[in-house]
Amino acid sequence: MTGPIAWLASSGGPVRGEVLVPGDKSVSHRAIMLAAMADGVSRIEGFLEGEDTRATAAAFAGMGVRIDTPSPSQRIVHGVGMHGLAAPRTAIDCGNAGTGMRLLAGLLAGQPFDSVLVGDESLSRRPMRRIIEPLVRMGAEIRAEAGDLPPLRIRGGCRLQGMLHAPSIASAQVKSAILLAGLHAEGITEVREAHPTRDYTERMLQAFGWPIEFGPGWARLAGGHRLAATDIVVPADFSSAAFFLVAASIVPGSELLLRSVGINPRRTGLLSILRLMGADIVETDRRGQGDDAVADLRVRHAVLRGIDVPESFVADMIDEFPILFVAAAAARGTTRIAGASELRVKESDRIAAMTQGLQALGIAVVEKPDGAVIEGGVPGPGRIESSGDHRIAMSFAVAGQIASGPVRIADCANVATSFPGFAELARGCGMNVRVAADPA
Ligand code: S3P
Repeated sequence: MTGPIAWLASSGGPVRGEVLVPGDKSVSHRAIMLAAMADGVSRIEGFLEGEDTRATAAAFAGMGVRIDTPSPSQRIVHGVGMHGLAAPRTAIDCGNAGTGMRLLAGLLAGQPFDSVLVGDESLSRRPMRRIIEPLVRMGAEIRAEAGDLPPLRIRGGCRLQGMLHAPSIASAQVKSAILLAGLHAEGITEVREAHPTRDYTERMLQAFGWPIEFGPGWARLAGGHRLAATDIVVPADFSSAAFFLVAASIVPGSELLLRSVGINPRRTGLLSILRLMGADIVETDRRGQGDDAVADLRVRHAVLRGIDVPESFVADMIDEFPILFVAAAAARGTTRIAGASELRVKESDRIAAMTQGLQALGIAVVEKPDGAVIEGGVPGPGRIESSGDHRIAMSFAVAGQIASGPVRIADCANVATSFPGFAELARGCGMNVRVAADPA
């Protein structure tokens, strides 16, 4: 279907069967970036065919890197080495991807050529000062709108100097931008975080043979080494699996198996929170895959209870808050979320989008500056705006499964950024999500 797309989500009966969700977005971005700058040919299996990660691949193709696609979800990357990128002829379009833009800014800050990073409407509103300020302290020259917003204009030929940075925000994108700039910097680059964030950049650098030391909340590397091509297997994305974990938890009679899901502990905060709420989720067949663990997750319907979400879990489930709002709306009692103000600067203001959407379905939600208080109940029918945000759209598709009438979600084309084929996969395991033209 071309043009605007809406979804009609309604209760469809139990969620059952087996599902393999697409590859991890964070890992796919990083695999392309490091493979492009490695010596030799790397093969990536399980690459996410989403608009965000394709934009990153296109960025490197535009800088002279040959990337073949022998079949969907596979990439063969012919690395050009640490100094082999060619100056892009046009601005690099990062699409909707904050990860793409922030990590690229780190990598490009130490290149000999100028570059410009642009994004779509949503990305053009997202804060960049958090990476500009430390990168400038390392010696980079980066200009942004009002010092904060894309486009980012990066001057080539700057000499970078390694440094110790302790970001005030818990952000893997900030950490990664600095570490990637550190590859081209003189001396040691070190990041120390107050709240540990996902460590995929560190793990991926290690897989490509770059000497790096790291542990929860810290990472240290020296510039001037080389990356050696390697083969990467991308696990299924926990953040995509999350919609199915919650759907099967809240729809009576459900039992679902999610296969080969990445269970890096810095990503799976939602598992712990759902279990605290009473969810029945069992990990089976845990195994190493590449440099990180995967497991099959079996989830059965359970009665969920509202909880106070401990703030210590926020960084480990940052992308799962929209779907947690839905779990909270389906739970008995009150759920309180706090310490999550970062949600206001994601692809949309996710606190506002989820509060307004659930209120439109008749759920009592009180919005707070850094979270919300949600009273469980039964969602009614209603019309929802996705706010151009893939995770808002998918969250309300799940809410529709327990609603007393149809939920119409406008503007769902954005789901292709992270989870192409979501509606088909959801229908395949019994969810009722129909795709319609969006007259809006
Ligand atoms: C990501 C880090 C997180 C997350 C995003 C992906 C990454 O962003 O929300 O979807 O791949 O490093 P922040 O670093 O802004 O928290």
